[in-house]
Amino acid sequence: MSVPTTRKDRTARAREVLARCDALAKFSEDANSLRRTFLSTPMHNCHAAVAGWLKPLGVFAKIDAVGNIHGVYPGIDSASPRILIGSHLDTVPNAGKYDGILGVVLAIALLEELDGKRLPLAIEVIGFSEEEGVRFGVPFIGSRALTGRVDEELLGRRDRNGISVREAIHQFGLDEQRISEAALTGNVLAYLEFHIEQGPVLEKSGRQLGVVEALVGQTRLALRFLGRANHSGTTPMDARRDALAAAAEWMVAVESHATRTPELVATVGSIEAKPGAINVIPGEVRLSLDVRHRSDEVRTRAVRELTDLAEAIARKRGLCSQWNSLLEQNAVQLDEFLAGQIEAAIRNSGCEPHRMTSGAGHDAMILAERIPSAMIFLRSPGGISHDPAEGVLLEDVEKAIQAGVRLLEQLASSQEFLGWKNRA
Ligand code: GLV
Ligand code: MN
Ligand code: MN
Repeated sequence: MSVPTTRKDRTARAREVLARCDALAKFSEDANSLRRTFLSTPMHNCHAAVAGWLKPLGVFAKIDAVGNIHGVYPGIDSASPRILIGSHLDTVPNAGKYDGILGVVLAIALLEELDGKRLPLAIEVIGFSEEEGVRFGVPFIGSRALTGRVDEELLGRRDRNGISVREAIHQFGLDEQRISEAALTGNVLAYLEFHIEQGPVLEKSGRQLGVVEALVGQTRLALRFLGRANHSGTTPMDARRDALAAAAEWMVAVESHATRTPELVATVGSIEAKPGAINVIPGEVRLSLDVRHRSDEVRTRAVRELTDLAEAIARKRGLCSQWNSLLEQNAVQLDEFLAGQIEAAIRNSGCEPHRMTSGAGHDAMILAERIPSAMIFLRSPGGISHDPAEGVLLEDVEKAIQAGVRLLEQLASSQEFLGWKNRA
C-alpha cells in the first residue's frame, strides 16, 4: 500500500476534520455552550452526521444497545482480521470541540485516505457513547459494553433527574436486552485511539505527536458532609454544625495533600450545598473527589488518607461524613509493540515522537483489558482541555493523518501483527 495523498490533499483533509469537529459541536444540550452527555437527545444528530460521513465510503453505521456507533470498512476478504479505531462522542459541560470527537473524525479521515483500497485488515470505526462519566457519575459506559462490563449495578444507577441507565437506554430508542451483542466478537487484533493530549507536555517539549505508554489510575468518589441547617441570623458561631464550612476545610486540605505528594492530582470538581439559601446555615454538602496517580498504591493510600481526613474534620465540628466509590480504575500499560509501531509511523511522517503517560482517562484503558491497545496524542495548545478554549493545530492534524496512514501501512504489512490471534 502506498500513501495516496499529496501534502496539499492532506491539508484539505485536515481542514475537513476540523470542520467536522465544528459541525458536531453544534449538537448540544445547552444553548450557548457544548454539553452532550450519554444518550442525550443531541447524540441522535451526532450519530446521523457520523453515519452520513461514513456512507459515501460504503460503510453502514449501526448503533449498539448502549449507543456506541460502529461502522466497518471491510478488509481484502471476509476472513481479514479487524482493528478498531475511535474515541468518544460525549462531552463534559461547557466542553471544547475536540476531546474524544477528534479521534472519531480522524478515524473516518483515515478511511477516506484509503480511497477504496482494501487492506488485509478490516477497520471498524467506533464512536463511544460515554467516556466522561458526567450524566451517571461513572465513566466508560460505552467501552465497558465492548468488554462485557455493563452490569446490573450500572444499569440501575440514576442521573440527577432520577432516570436510570436502563431507562435512558429505552428513552433513546435502544434495547437494553441486547447489550451483550455489543461485546467484542470476531477476530479483533487491536484498538487504536487518536486524542488531544489535554495537557502541556507535548507543547513544552516542542513535539506535535505523542505515543502513550501508560494511563494513570483514577478513583472517583461521592462524599457528603451532614450537619444541621439553621437560621443564619440567630445561631451563634459556636453553636453551628455548618456542612459547607467543613467541606471548605476539607477541600483546602485535599489540595495541600496532593501538592505535597509527587505526581498526585486530586480534584473536588463539584459541590452542592443544601438547602442553598443566603440566610440558612448549610445542613448538607455533596461533593465529588477525583484522585489520580501512575502508582495504584500511592493513589489508594491517598484516597484512604483523604477520606479519613474528611471523617476527622466532620467529627471535630460535630458533623458526620459519608462517601461511596464511583470508580476504581487501576493504571493501565498500553501495548508495547503498537507503541513502537506508532513511534516509527510518527518518525516516518517527519516528526519526532514523544513517549508519555496520560493523566486523563480514555476508552483505551478499558479496551486494553481485552485487546492490545494504543494511543496517539496530538499537542494541545496552551495545555487547555475540558473548556471551550480547547484547541488543536491544523498542522498537527495533518501530521496525525499522515502518521495514521503510515501506521496502517506498517500494520497491514507486518506478519507479526497479522499473525496475532484474536485476543478478544
Ligand atoms: C476524561 O476526560 C477524564 O480523564 O476524566
Ligand atoms: Mn476524552
Ligand atoms: Mn474528557
